This record gives sequence, C-alpha cells and structure tokens, in this order.
Amino acid sequence: MTGRRAVTASRQTITALRSKDLLGIEHLDVGEITLLLDTAESMRSIAARPIKKVPALRGRMVVNLFFEASTRTRFSFETAEKWLSADSLNFSGGKGTSVEKGESLLDTARTLQAMSPDLIVVRHSAAGVPHFLARHLDAGVINAGDGAHEHPTQALLDALTIRDRFGRIEGLKVVIAGDIAHSRVARSNVFLLTRMGASVTVCGPPTLLPPRVEELGVQAMTDFDRAVEGADVVMMLRMQLERQSHSLFPSKREYFTRYGLTMSRLARASPNAIAMHPGPMNRGVEISSEVADSPQSVILEQVANGVPVRMAALYLLLTGRPWEGEREGT
Ligand code: CP
Repeated sequence: MTGRRAVTASRQTITALRSKDLLGIEHLDVGEITLLLDTAESMRSIAARPIKKVPALRGRMVVNLFFEASTRTRFSFETAEKWLSADSLNFSGGKGTSVEKGESLLDTARTLQAMSPDLIVVRHSAAGVPHFLARHLDAGVINAGDGAHEHPTQALLDALTIRDRFGRIEGLKVVIAGDIAHSRVARSNVFLLTRMGASVTVCGPPTLLPPRVEELGVQAMTDFDRAVEGADVVMMLRMQLERQSHSLFPSKREYFTRYGLTMSRLARASPNAIAMHPGPMNRGVEISSEVADSPQSVILEQVANGVPVRMAALYLLLTGRPWEGEREGT
C-alpha cells in the first residue's frame, strides 16, 4: 500500500512501538512514525532548558557501537542519552578494543551483552548488521545506518524538519536527488515519505539510480531541471564515493553542472521550497554553497532535530510507553 491511501487506512493513535528494535522505516506503520515524530516534537522543549537533563532513562545503559565514521548521528545519540540521563558506553571503529585482535562482531556483541546493556545503537558499513545483532541479543537495537540499506533516525529527523516547515507531509512534492543507488538515507526517506502520503521523485544519473526503483512507489527521473519543477522539498544526497567500486559519472565538475543544486535550479521549485541535505555535504559537487547557506536551506534544522528524534526512539524503545511531557521532565 502506498501514499495517501496508506495514510488514511492506518491513521490511528498508538502509544508504543511494536518491537524492541528500530531497524528501519520499511516495517513501521503510519501510527508508529507519527508516534515517533510527535514524541520528538514534545521532547524538543528539553533543549530550551537551562539544565538539559531529565531523569527519564536513569539507570538504563546504552552502548553506541560505531564501526563507521559519523559526526551528526553519533553525537546526537550521545547527546540524547545524556539529556535523558541514560548511561552510555561509546565504541568507535573498533579502535582500542579486542576487534583489533580479530574478535568477531558476534563475539564482541555477546561480550557487551554480558554487561547487560538495555539498548545498542549500531552503525556499520555492511547492510544487515543491526538485524543480525537484534536476532542474537536480548538488548534492543537501533540501526544508526547500515551500508546502503537504511538509516531510520535520519529519515525521521528529515520528516520532523519537513513537518515543522509545512505542518504536514501528506500531499507534498519531494525530490530526492543524487547518488540514490548507494544511499541508505534515500531508501529510508522513500519508505517514510511515501507511507506518509508525499509524492516522491528520485533523480540522478542513470548509473546512480537503482534498477526498478519505481517499485518503491516513486517516480524516477534523470533530468534534474525537470524533476525540481514545483517541488516543495529538494533533498540532496552526498556522492558516496566510498561505496562506488568504479567511477559512475565523468567528473565532479560535470556532475555539478547536471545535478548540483544551484540557486537557479532551486528557483524552479515552489517559492516556499526548502533545500535539505543529511550531511556531510560536498559543496560544489551536489550542492552550491549559496544554496547550503541560503534562507531556504534547513540543513542545520535537520541537525538540531536529530537530538529529539533520537531521544524519542530511545525513550519509546526503552520504556514501551508514551512520553508524558513536562510531568516526566522534573
Ligand atoms: N547524516 C549522517 O548520518 O551524518 P553522519 O555520518 O555525520 O552521522
């Protein structure tokens, strides 16, 4: 079921997620996505307090297992855990741990499990690692990005940013442009935005569009000038050179000429259109500095929304109950 029909059919009020894990958007329904966004929205007030700390997750232990580089996701999870008073253990790239001595992923995870964490946040370059850990561990697992597969909390923070600007997601025209084939952000956003009733177009050179992408309920285009016409949201993606085994476009310069988001291209979108990018950005490759720093850019709002979205995911998974707002925050 896709688009608006899905929104209407499953609009419901729910108070908990159905799983101990948040592994992707693909299997979340409209009620779960709405619960995560509404909870994040109500947790945002914590950021405005002089003392940014509530006791909601006191005594809970979260392990942040980052096997791949990250700035935004890692620091916003750590911030979210601190603001909710959870105890965190941080593990980056295996450095300084027994992974350097050849310990397997499963043995590492079982070793951590023996210390009774309540939740594991994992980023890994291989698709499916969070699902593997979720199957083998009692602790809950949050996918903080697995290869080119999914990045659910990124799509949630993107959705919150869109909802902040437009008051809705349903009925908006969203263009996701760039390296679609290697992007976990694109996949999670396609699942989320189509489920919430947006009309989604993915755009990029033919070499960077996955085969049969239309089966995900999106339109696929290769002409960026045409794709961007009338769009409410233009979401640019990073060129993921590290996931490309050989060059899939002639040069960065040519790529920017055909697929870079410039002010003149953005002018073809709706007058109130917003420009998004999950970061890190390659200025002058997929987006111009002029657009990135323009009033239409919501890139830093996306970063700011990362913290409440991750707080919402941690809280809902660890407590299994709705956030009661200020009453919990004292
Ligand atoms: N958007 C995103 O995942 O950024 P990081 O790689 O910095 O976490």
